Amino acid sequence: MQDKLKQLEEMRAQARMAGGAERIERQHKAGKLTARERIELLLDDNTFQEIGMFVQHRETNFGMMNNRPLGDGVVTGYGTIDGRLVYVFAQDFTVMGGSLGRAHADKIVRILDLAMENGAPVIGLQDSGGARIQEGVVALGGYADIFLRNVQASGVIPQISAIMGPSAGGAVYSPALTDFIFMVKDTSYMYVTGPDVVKTVTHEDVTHEDLGGAMTHNSRSGVAHFATDNEQHCLAMIRELLTYIPQNNLEEVPRKRVLDDPLRMETKLNAIIPDNPNKPYDMKEVIHMIVDDGEFFEIQEHFAQNILIGLARFAGRAVGIVAQQPMVLAGVLDIDSSTKAARFVRFCDAFNIPLVTLEDVPGFLPGVGQELNGIIRHGAKLLYAYAEATVPKITVITRKAYGGAYDVMSSRHIRGDIIYAWPCAEIAVMGPQGAVNIINRREITEAEDPEAKRVELVEQYRETFANPYVAASYGYVDDVIEPHRTRPSIIAALEMLQNKRQSNPPKKHGNIPL
Ligand code: HXC
Repeated sequence: MQDKLKQLEEMRAQARMAGGAERIERQHKAGKLTARERIELLLDDNTFQEIGMFVQHRETNFGMMNNRPLGDGVVTGYGTIDGRLVYVFAQDFTVMGGSLGRAHADKIVRILDLAMENGAPVIGLQDSGGARIQEGVVALGGYADIFLRNVQASGVIPQISAIMGPSAGGAVYSPALTDFIFMVKDTSYMYVTGPDVVKTVTHEDVTHEDLGGAMTHNSRSGVAHFATDNEQHCLAMIRELLTYIPQNNLEEVPRKRVLDDPLRMETKLNAIIPDNPNKPYDMKEVIHMIVDDGEFFEIQEHFAQNILIGLARFAGRAVGIVAQQPMVLAGVLDIDSSTKAARFVRFCDAFNIPLVTLEDVPGFLPGVGQELNGIIRHGAKLLYAYAEATVPKITVITRKAYGGAYDVMSSRHIRGDIIYAWPCAEIAVMGPQGAVNIINRREITEAEDPEAKRVELVEQYRETFANPYVAASYGYVDDVIEPHRTRPSIIAALEMLQNKRQSNPPKKHGNIPL
């Protein structure tokens, strides 16, 4: 028995050394941790249970039988984060560049299957040269097996990807199918084809960073959701994200003990809206003032900054927040902000996370570029997402709610449950200037002093329509509240709605305008 125990210990040590001391050193020199070090940092201390440490590939071509590292370049298993079960796989770049062959893929597939069967989140730490070239189509098949599971798990368990090295070729599509993509600045990149192929095909010169670096995908393409400063920061943020999210689609949102008073009034809010309706204010300040302990876990903070999305808590209960940001493009809805918010609304709805919408929207962005690139199709995504969502939906109209954007932003008509408006809200088909130019054109041109007439008519329109009371008289707004009462009002509504049951008609699936 002693011999057997010794052999086991030796094999474990061999598996732990992965690609060998030299490659581990190279990994560290590149500013990267090893797969095992990452898992240690991600999970609660001493909770990692490894599965498949002794798995080896069975490829015989290219002399591969002489190189059969234990574990086959991916560390897989389960453990806990804040005491809650999670499944994890971490690709090991020190073993054949973390490349994915049949055995490697099978290990990931097993983790995804276990996560699905047991209803817990799965976290994939990606660091890989892509499909293992020596294994050919078998490697491609392995990827497709993973893609299928990512799709089946979508909306059932939270799936989180962290890109901690290269992610190239079709390999990018597994992270793309998951709910959130974290990237690490300077050491991670994602692209379908790298700079060399781009140069050959389109003759464009581009660096790895500009084509697929963390900030490229966080600020330009919208592919990624978080750009983190280093790997430690990345793993800590994943832990924090999970504190807001249920384990699966059948669970309620987690509750946290908080000391922040649910009845807290925030008088500063009464003065936050400028007298001039064309002047911006920072909606992030509003969010920080109303949520528990001022904590807002923002998602995609660098992309489509005219809309804010993220997670927060009210009286200890997690919610998803969608809010216009008047500081950027006046908070207008455009293609990027519509798709950004739509995906988040669907995530929250899939995982029973109530939605709180803070609305200050002058409308959809006019322009040839927007129209030709499909603002109709993309704007419809947000409309679709809000309309199909059955979680509790609370809307606070802080200022403007104009045109189609009024309908889209979780209005009463698409099953918004409770709609509040601040007294300075303006709810109408369009803003006073635009409206007067259309409905009073003749009156203005025929007036003795057209400019004075325009000012008079604009004022008249503002008084008639640019307020919350017309909408409130129809019952489209449930209450006009003093801004300082926003936090207690939202908390009361969330409590009232906590047993909400609503469903959509049975169907295979809808046809969201993609
Ligand atoms: C087998 C691979 C590999 C791969 C890297 N390695 N990628 N082995 N298959 N795809 C091995 C290298 O041979 C090397 O082995 C070790 O990993 C480290 O690689 P280096 O090149 O030395 O590292 P580095 O200089 O850091 O460059 C990393 C890299 C580069 C940029 C990722 O290796 C690279 O370009 N790899 C190929 C990327 C690629 O085109 N993959 C296929 C994409 S298509 P030794 O023994 O020397 O340490 C794809 C299709 C998926 O993935 C389809 C799904 C639908």
